[in-house]
This record gives sequence, structure tokens and C-alpha cells, in this order.
Amino acid sequence: MSIDESQVTAALAAVTDPELRRPLGELGMVGPVQTRRKRAAVQVALPVAHYPQVDLLVERVRAAVTAVPGVDEVTVDTTVMEEEPRARLRMLLRGEAVDGGTQHAADDGHGHGHDHGGPGQLGHEEGRPNRFMLPRSKTRILGISSGKGGVGKSSVTVNLAVSLARRGFDVGILDADVYGFSVPKMLGVTTDPLIIGDLVVPPTANGVRCLSMGYFVPDDTPVIWRGPMLHKALEQFLVDAYWGEPDYLLIDMPPGTGDVTLSLGQYLTKTEVYVVTTPQQAAERVAQRSAYAARKLKLAVRGVIENMSWFTGDDGTRYELFGAGGGAQLAGELGVPLLAQVPLVPALRQGGDDGIPTVSAEPDSEVAQVFDRLATSIVELGPARVYRKELSLS
Ligand SMILES: Nc1ncnc2c1ncn2[C@@H]1O[C@H](COP(=O)(O)OP(=O)(O)OP(=O)(O)O)[C@@H](O)[C@H]1O
Ligand SMILES: [Mg+2]
Repeated sequence: MSIDESQVTAALAAVTDPELRRPLGELGMVGPVQTRRKRAAVQVALPVAHYPQVDLLVERVRAAVTAVPGVDEVTVDTTVMEEEPRARLRMLLRGEAVDGGTQHAADDGHGHGHDHGGPGQLGHEEGRPNRFMLPRSKTRILGISSGKGGVGKSSVTVNLAVSLARRGFDVGILDADVYGFSVPKMLGVTTDPLIIGDLVVPPTANGVRCLSMGYFVPDDTPVIWRGPMLHKALEQFLVDAYWGEPDYLLIDMPPGTGDVTLSLGQYLTKTEVYVVTTPQQAAERVAQRSAYAARKLKLAVRGVIENMSWFTGDDGTRYELFGAGGGAQLAGELGVPLLAQVPLVPALRQGGDDGIPTVSAEPDSEVAQVFDRLATSIVELGPARVYRKELSLS
């Protein structure tokens, strides 16, 4: 039986690129196809040289083409896209970044659905379209906040994100802790963000996309972030980056009550805030201030996560090294649920240092189960009601 070349092309076009998570046909990555007797030779055009996850992509292509009737042998070649298709690809991705999806662009009732002309042309209040705030955006934004540093905010962010991703959600993390930048390392990201023209594609590790301020700041240069600079950087990371359409975008916020909260209050009003605290009473009071700051900005505080709640000794005894009750007390004062108590386990720290989140390394461990239950609770809480100016009576 001879091979039907059009079937090979169709199979190739339907393969999902692991990096951009869309079919190669849509991305313009399908190159020439040749067939001869039982052999098929296909070419994939990569958006840039040094494209991430090429091995996985080639494996997927090989599997898809092998499945075409009559094909016994497959060779997969990669080339780099010409300037023109790359520009088209960038437009496509940016189009999505601008209006949330080309297919449904016309039916959003906002009158800018067809315009893929880039930021600044869409008449958004801020002058920049913010797709996460479009009414049809399904993305829930989870701001992980804490009163002070070192309480485990980044560890919680990373493990919660991986837990959500493991159950099939599309998840991203924006590391907005300008003083910390710890998320890429904890998540195990080893590659830099992919840059296609002026578009940044956050790298993926453990099934989670991640973009960090740290990528754009030299290691040895202290940066003093002023409010407007921070606001601009956040805006760019939300708007000019290709996130696809995640179900959850977690934001690792800097500790305290500062400028990032202010920016989110202005720019991402649907951000749900989850406050991480330790069981100590003093920590609880500091955490409370950060929750009040969020509320003042009309962000919905949805729950409290207590971390380092106890350590279980070899004999099974629980030691409450940092006191007890802080999480429950804070939750009570804020009138929100205490969603989790995360024990102190050396594996969690080790996992953070090694870039292998415990939730993915030891999914059955006690602490992984705590994160799984936390993820379930957050899924079940559902999106927060968003305060909308146009709906207020005054
Ligand atoms: N439950 C836990 N068990 C063991 N170690 C933990 C736990 N939570 C956090 N750690 C460790 O404590 C340290 C601080 O945690 P992490 O970096 O997540 O906190 P943070 O609040 O993000 O801190 P920063 O303010 O520095 O960004 C890390 O070394 C981390 O691995
Ligand atoms: Mg941190």
C-alpha cells in the first residue's frame, strides 16, 4: 500500500507543539513532506534556532506520522523558520495575547476583536489590553502573599501550582517577588524564556509555565524597584508574554503591603489573595496587615495557608516548633477559611533547593497530600466575584 501524502501532512499539522501548546499547522511549523514507498520524510520549521523541547516535539511528530497507514519508516528534519512566517507566528501569538484567541475574536462584543495590530491600538483604559481582565477570560489569578519573608510563600506557590497542573489544569506562575526571584529554581526551570521577536514565551518545568523578574535582571545587580517601574514590569509580564489561556495564574507576591499589591489592585482586580503565615502569633499579625492592604484595594482575600505548622519526629510525636494557632486565628479575624496546614518537612526544603517540587517527586507523601487538598479547596471555592466600577450604584 502506498502512502497518501496528504494524510502525512494532515497528521503532521495536527501535532501539538509542546512549547506553544498549539497544533503545528496553526503555528506555521509544517515543512515539506516527501514519501517514497513505505518511507515518509517530514520537515518541521522551528520558530527560532535553539528551540526548547525539540526532542519531545520530534518524538510526537514521529509517532503521529508512523500512525499514518502505509508508513513504515519516518525521518524528521528540523529547520528554522524564515522571517515572514515567524512574523506571522508572532502576530498569531500576540493576537492571542491581545484579545484572548483568534477563533472567538469576533464574538466578544468589545469591538476590538479583529484588531491584532498590537498593544496601544485597542483603546483600553490603560492604553494596553489586559486579556486576563476580559469578561470571557477563564483564568483565575491567585496572588500568594505573606506579611513577612521566609514563611514559605514561594514553596507554597510552586507546590500548589504543580498540584493543580498534575490534575490537568493549565497553570502558570508569575514570580513577582522582586526581592526573591526564587520560583524558577524551585520549579526546576533550566531554560531561559523563549524570545520570538518581541514576544516572551515563559519556559515550562514540571508542567507549569513560569516567568520571573529574575530573568531580566543580572544576578549581581541590585535593582531598586520604584512603584511605576514595578507596575510597568508586571504589566509587560502579563500582557506582552505569551501565556496561552491558563486556568490558573499564580503570582508569588513580594512580602508585605507594597507596590505589587497596589498594581494588582489597579490592574488585575480579579486577583484572589491567599495569605501564607506561620503558626506564630507575631507572624499572624504581620500577615493580617498584608491581608488588610489587599482588602483596601478591593482584592478578594479568599483564604489562609499556614506553613511550618508542625514537625513530626521519628517516633510520630508532633512538635509545634513555631507555636500553634496563628493560621486559624488569622482566618477567623479575616472571616475566610484556613485552607491548609503544611507541615515542616525536610523534603520540601530539599525539593526547593534541587528544583524538584515535592508534590511531583513524592506525590503520595503527607505534604503532597496537603497540597492536593489545598488545590481541591481552591478549585472548589471557584472564582471570586469581581468588583466592577460600572456596576456600582454610587
Ligand atoms: N513546610 C516546609 N518544610 C520545610 N522547609 C520549608 C517549608 N516551607 C518552606 N521551607 C523552606 O524555608 C525556606 C523559605 O521558604 P520560601 O523560600 O518558600 O519562603 P518565602 O516566603 O518565599 O521566602 P522569601 O521571602 O525569601 O521569598 C526555604 O528554604 C524553603 O525550602
Ligand atoms: Mg520567596
